[in-house]
Amino acid sequence: MADRSAQNLFIHNAAQVITPALSTSGPSPALALRVIEDGAVLIIDSKIAALGPTRDLKSDPRVQHVPQLNCTDCVVAPGFVDSHTHLVFAGTRQLEYEKRIQGTSYEEIAASGGGIQETVRQVRRTSEDSLLEAAKQRCREFLDHGTTTLEAKSGYGLDPDNEFKILRVVRRLREDSTLPVEIVSTFLGAHEIPEEFQKDRRGYVNLICSQMIPKVAQENLAEFCDVFCERTVFNLGESRQILLTARQHGLKLKLHADQLTRNGGAQLAVELNAISADHLECIEDRDVEALSHSNVVATLLPGATFHLGKGNYAPARKLIDSGARVALATDFNPGTSPTVNMQMVLSLACSQLHMSPAEAFAAATLGGAMALNRHGDRGSLDPGKAADLAIFDVPDYRLVPYHFGMNHVRAVIKDGQVLFDHWN
Ligand code: NIG
Ligand code: FE
Repeated sequence: MADRSAQNLFIHNAAQVITPALSTSGPSPALALRVIEDGAVLIIDSKIAALGPTRDLKSDPRVQHVPQLNCTDCVVAPGFVDSHTHLVFAGTRQLEYEKRIQGTSYEEIAASGGGIQETVRQVRRTSEDSLLEAAKQRCREFLDHGTTTLEAKSGYGLDPDNEFKILRVVRRLREDSTLPVEIVSTFLGAHEIPEEFQKDRRGYVNLICSQMIPKVAQENLAEFCDVFCERTVFNLGESRQILLTARQHGLKLKLHADQLTRNGGAQLAVELNAISADHLECIEDRDVEALSHSNVVATLLPGATFHLGKGNYAPARKLIDSGARVALATDFNPGTSPTVNMQMVLSLACSQLHMSPAEAFAAATLGGAMALNRHGDRGSLDPGKAADLAIFDVPDYRLVPYHFGMNHVRAVIKDGQVLFDHWN
């Protein structure tokens, strides 16, 4: 069981300590990465107390009295903040994966009753306890790969009982003291029109707005509300109605926007001042422009584009260069992105989105924290923030995306507690 008491630790001799910061020195605010060679981090009472070169921190009198962790030849970074996952589901969809490889599109599979509907059928016949066990195991895998905070969406229930079943699983995960990952809950009842409402889509939108959202808010089952805003799923008007209702009930807003086609999702996110607009593969210059003049975090999910084999990655360079706030996340789900590995997402961000390794690390930590409204206490190693760290077994942070598809994590520290340490 994780020890949740106050933790002290002195991490020293790291080849590099890296931490992102929101820089306001350029023409528009941008995420920058500070790199401290031969770095150290002092953790007191489970919070970051100081960071800097090892030789400077060693003279801090507090260092004498705390346990030490020597990180020679390693990179010390904030733990990843994965701001977009569909954590709770049952089953896998490798048959559909094979069909896609043979040329059937994601939309065609969805139209023939597969895709999200297939996972919904599986979730509906799976008990809450079984869903919990599977999700717990996935949380451990996230931690093993350096993720210390993650978002978890519902969206594979699509009726009140099953959506609430998923959200109760998320609540039980959050309350599980043996599972030290931070989890943020999102209601995504508007992930697809369920089979029983195919001929009455208005009926399902009304069910979401009149029954599901009020109960989610009343029982505090989620902090965010998300909608799959897509021509073939929830159109712009339906998405607006659902998100406005969610906002009236005190939920913060997210959108799956412009993923498969451009239908104005990013513009809707700006109009509603959503916390994030996610995907954005199909946005145009006018959408980049709107996002860059807003506080909406553009959350890029290159794992989904990769797994779908589409090649139309989101225009990350345009977004960054025009000053939009950018986050990276896995989009972990059984259909389009079955990976928990944020390091692989960094590799895709660098090789496919043309982000620099520094931009990618910043977007996967502080960017993710901004997309979850957690940047006040997570996502960077600023003094006063929670001591959530990932330690990589490489001497230069650029080697993490460079050696792609691997797990470079050697240790994870959550709230100052060393969860595992592959030195031992
Ligand atoms: O983010 N786009 C909608 N939702 C998921 C896919 C979910 C699924 O196929 O099961 C996504 O890509
Ligand atoms: Fe998603």
